Amino acid sequence: MLVVGNWKLNTDCKSAIRLASEVARMTEADTRSVSVGVCPPYVWLDAVRERLRGSRVALGAQNVYTQDSGAFTGEVSAPMLAELDCAYVIVGHSERRQYFRESDAFVGEKLKHVSAHGMTPILCVGETLEERKSDQAESVVLRQLDGGVAGFRMTNEQRLIVAYEPVWAIGTGETATPEQAQEMHTVIRAHLTSLLGDQGRKAPILYGGSVKPKNANELFSQPDIDGGLIGGASLDAGSFVSIVHTAASLSQK
Ligand code: PGA
Repeated sequence: MLVVGNWKLNTDCKSAIRLASEVARMTEADTRSVSVGVCPPYVWLDAVRERLRGSRVALGAQNVYTQDSGAFTGEVSAPMLAELDCAYVIVGHSERRQYFRESDAFVGEKLKHVSAHGMTPILCVGETLEERKSDQAESVVLRQLDGGVAGFRMTNEQRLIVAYEPVWAIGTGETATPEQAQEMHTVIRAHLTSLLGDQGRKAPILYGGSVKPKNANELFSQPDIDGGLIGGASLDAGSFVSIVHTAASLSQK
């Protein structure tokens, strides 16, 4: 089980440090069976890293560029994130696909770049409401998976996490039902197995989209849901850690 917070474009330096400190402190007890991570904005990564030192909360980034260095004004590379001890990097979040026109191929390049620098990519996939209504949810998710892992080879060192995040459930308060999520996770796992073999079958698949303390239990109880990528609820330490505890209690079963 794995629970990762995606802070998005939120927090100032002070509140980021406070949030990180609270999460670090509150996850000390009873969460051993869960991996926990937080993804602050780039500019607070270093400050948050200091607060997480010695805790069991890992650091992650929300995005990355595909080149190591060079004339790419405003971008941040994987070696830079690795130097800040990032364990995870989110790639292909729907907000990046939607607002910054990131293509499947570009997301795939990012994924390989992150992995080549020893960090674990969290590949986000998910359909819009229109795509779901027109019965294209599955084909969209499969296309995003194909593009995301194209040319990627999994090994014990080169790990991968996938997050299924239906766009219509992100930040809307509306979640996929546990059955809808489980159904898509099964499809994703089968496809990862066909693309990446047995290693692909073992890749954790997170659910994301309005996960809250009150619905985490029914979602995480599904056999193919291995945890969550948490947006809004990760900005409140109490809510986030409550979701972590839910995952911990389920993974001990
Ligand atoms: P949400 O965001 O929990 O606020 O819906 C999830 C995400 O976008 O990762």
